[in-house]
Amino acid sequence: MQTDSAITIHRSDYRPYPFRIETVQLAFDLDPAGTRVRNTLRLQRVPGTPANTLLVLDGEDIELLGLSLDGQPVEAARYRLDARTLSVAGLPESCTLTIDSLCRPDANTKLMGLYVSGESLFTQCEAEGFRRITWFPDRPDVMSRYQVTLRADKNAYPVMLSNGNLISSTELPDSRHETVWEDPFPKPSYLFALVAGRFACRQKTTHTASGREVLLQVYSDPGSEAQTEWALDSLERALRWDEQRFGLELDLDRFMVVATRDFNMGAMENKGLNIFNAAYVLAHPDSATDANYEAIESVIGHEYFHNWTGNRVTCRDWFQLSLKEGLTVFRDQEFTADMMAEALQRREEDAAAGSSAALAQLRAAQASARAVKRIDDVIALRAAQFPEDAGPMAHPIRPESYQEIGNFYTATVYEKGAEVIRMQHRLLGEAGFRQGMDDYFARFDGQAVTCDDFVDTMEAVYTRQHPGQDFSIFRRWYAQAGTPRVKVTLAHDSATQRCTITLQQRCDKVGVETQRGADYVKHPFHIPFALGLLAPDGTPLPLSLNGEQSDTVLLELREEQAQWHFDSIAQRPVPSLLRDFSAPVIVEYDWTDEELALLSEHDPDAFARWEAGQELAAREILRHARDMDLDEPVTLSASLVRAWATLLHTPALDPAYRARALALPLEKTLLERMRPMHPGRLAAARLAVRAELGRQLGSLWLQTYHENMTPGAYSPDPLSTGRRSLKNLALSYLCAPRKQDGLSLAQQQFQKAGNMTDSLAALACLVNDADTIVAQNALGDFYTRWHHDPLVVDKWFAVQAASCNSTVALVRKLTQHPAFTLLTPNRVRALVFQFCMNNALNFHTEEGAGYAFWAEQMLLLDPVNPEIAARLARVFDRWSLHAPELREKMLAALELIAAEPSLSRNTSEIIQKSLNLGALEAK
Ligand code: TRP
Ligand code: ZN
Repeated sequence: MQTDSAITIHRSDYRPYPFRIETVQLAFDLDPAGTRVRNTLRLQRVPGTPANTLLVLDGEDIELLGLSLDGQPVEAARYRLDARTLSVAGLPESCTLTIDSLCRPDANTKLMGLYVSGESLFTQCEAEGFRRITWFPDRPDVMSRYQVTLRADKNAYPVMLSNGNLISSTELPDSRHETVWEDPFPKPSYLFALVAGRFACRQKTTHTASGREVLLQVYSDPGSEAQTEWALDSLERALRWDEQRFGLELDLDRFMVVATRDFNMGAMENKGLNIFNAAYVLAHPDSATDANYEAIESVIGHEYFHNWTGNRVTCRDWFQLSLKEGLTVFRDQEFTADMMAEALQRREEDAAAGSSAALAQLRAAQASARAVKRIDDVIALRAAQFPEDAGPMAHPIRPESYQEIGNFYTATVYEKGAEVIRMQHRLLGEAGFRQGMDDYFARFDGQAVTCDDFVDTMEAVYTRQHPGQDFSIFRRWYAQAGTPRVKVTLAHDSATQRCTITLQQRCDKVGVETQRGADYVKHPFHIPFALGLLAPDGTPLPLSLNGEQSDTVLLELREEQAQWHFDSIAQRPVPSLLRDFSAPVIVEYDWTDEELALLSEHDPDAFARWEAGQELAAREILRHARDMDLDEPVTLSASLVRAWATLLHTPALDPAYRARALALPLEKTLLERMRPMHPGRLAAARLAVRAELGRQLGSLWLQTYHENMTPGAYSPDPLSTGRRSLKNLALSYLCAPRKQDGLSLAQQQFQKAGNMTDSLAALACLVNDADTIVAQNALGDFYTRWHHDPLVVDKWFAVQAASCNSTVALVRKLTQHPAFTLLTPNRVRALVFQFCMNNALNFHTEEGAGYAFWAEQMLLLDPVNPEIAARLARVFDRWSLHAPELREKMLAALELIAAEPSLSRNTSEIIQKSLNLGALEAK
């Protein structure tokens, strides 16, 4: 492993930049084989800075062609160039520096900086990509006004875009042309963007709340214009929502979204010119699923909301990443929840005119719409962030150190970061939180700030609401890693009719904390813990806290342990804990199976109700994974079967909600409770439980399947998507026992499906549960129909990679398919990531063929795209906790990669931490 690359950057190292750069002029002569960039900087030394201060600029993988100061070439003795910086000495207090350089977009496979995708040119600058375009202080606290000139061949690049407003558009000789763009808002370099190529554009004009006309545009490949309607509509909904919920308006005359097929992540919030992975823009009912539609609306919202939380107020340094990401994820989660509730609201009138059954269905959906979104977000948090927070990459939402910032765009910074914002929202209430947000923009607009600055504004509101209390304990959520555990004890005294609840928290040291020695002590967190109590017949009990009466109380645990008393409770109640998932913690309480069944049937809190059923299923699967002979049929506990039957029998519950309640908990979540970890056994146990539930409740699944058809034209509204998700879940249970009746239904659905959601769900059933010939035929038909559409070809790869019938040999063969390429991250994710991260049954086999395949792909991928390789490297985060026969082979695979001499900084950090901290864990 490279040693010089293992430089660790610490949060405490922050120093302000000694120069201000008021304006940047960039002129590009665009050409994939060699793009020339002229960068003209207006520099000013910060007052009070010593006159001999060196100017140090970042630059990587670019060639210096010229350097001049106030119009004169800089002599060689005054500057120094190395692989990562350009330093210039002896600058006057204010001056103009001009840098000419050359980069090669067509050789850029990392997709950071300026690169080629299809026939077009795109940029990606966050976090440190701008330095791959030109030399610059590539850090978020240096904010400048940009003017950008783009020149290129007009036939190859008819469209040329950059941030802000179009100033001019000019024809040049030799069939070239030029556009000039100006962004009126000062911004850090990571928000710079340019796009050049041939595009279709869908656009509309609308007015902001204050009446300004704005142009909204979505650019995509020529020929894909039929697939951008949903994205453009989502953009307009996002614009409206930010005005209504947060009073925030679009500040530009023009807002552009551009789709590319080659992109490292979801999308990027460049000022006025968002660049998107095509997977989060393009949708048509024939080729996109309900999940795709929802993801598009959510990512469009996310990037749009960054315009205020990220761009207008940005980060001082990358340790503050959660300042913009946690807050913006919270905002996009609320946007989706509000859009679902609003869509159902709009259905009121249609339903009122229709049958009373339709109205009842609508009421049920309205009642649980927000809970469904909350459940989906918590499922994702537990599957990705909880394991991360317990493994070698564990870090607080505001990390203390990193080697490669690209590795810290994590579930912790994003999703746990959003939970930390949500807790503040819960503690302050909607009005208090809104006040805090208003104050935040009033104080920090146009600045690069810290997480502490954000919490300061929220704390000011909180202390006004709760005189004498502060946020000092709450701030530990930013500083300490790990998922706290809250142990709950319930005592009931029938003589005094008093119920006493004791909460006790603990949080072990994790990740780098384990290396900080004995004097590093973790302190208790401030945990908002929502609780309800149910009488033994399921009736919710009124509780009083601080003089207020309610079915749900919010307990604030700030110490290691605290106690609360509730009076006038005649019989020992059943506790409903962590309602609405009020904090990102793990609850420990020993409910009996009967109590869980009661909660699953009666808890008025839709989240806790869902949770109770999931816990019943989790116990069942974990028991089988531990004890069962995998070749024998499983016997299910009566409580689980009864709970599932009850849910199937309760049509008054919304289909979307029932689809979540009747699904089985994810392997990744369950694995955290298994010691030693044996992912393959767990996956087999989960499949066996599913098959047995399918067999025992066959007629109920069949009835549910038929009751939830969605005739008529496709619509991605929450009622229809809810019905499809329940119907397709029923289909998967019907197919799980691998009997002909279920499989015929899947075959019929596959042949007749009028939309991609139904088609893909049926295909997955056939690939997993039907005979090879049937599965192969279906896959062949699907490919023939869709081979021209890359997003659908991704689905075709993914369904095979994740199948319980796939093997290492099959997946390796698919890497030789003409449609497979390591150059397109979406394709790598569809095949390699799906198999290594989402197919425990066939990846974690004891002979280690899966691990050898992983190592082989790592070595191919790392030189091509280190950001993506480093994500694949995280498959073995939890290696040290696995059964010995797996653990040894995982370790060998990790060591094989570690021995590679030219490993990227990205991958090297992950592998190193996995080996070092995993070894500590193994002890
Ligand atoms: N800031 C972007 C977002 O959350 C994501 C992002 C960060 C990104 N780094 C990236 C996207 C690199 C692509 C490539 O919306
Ligand atoms: Zn973001």
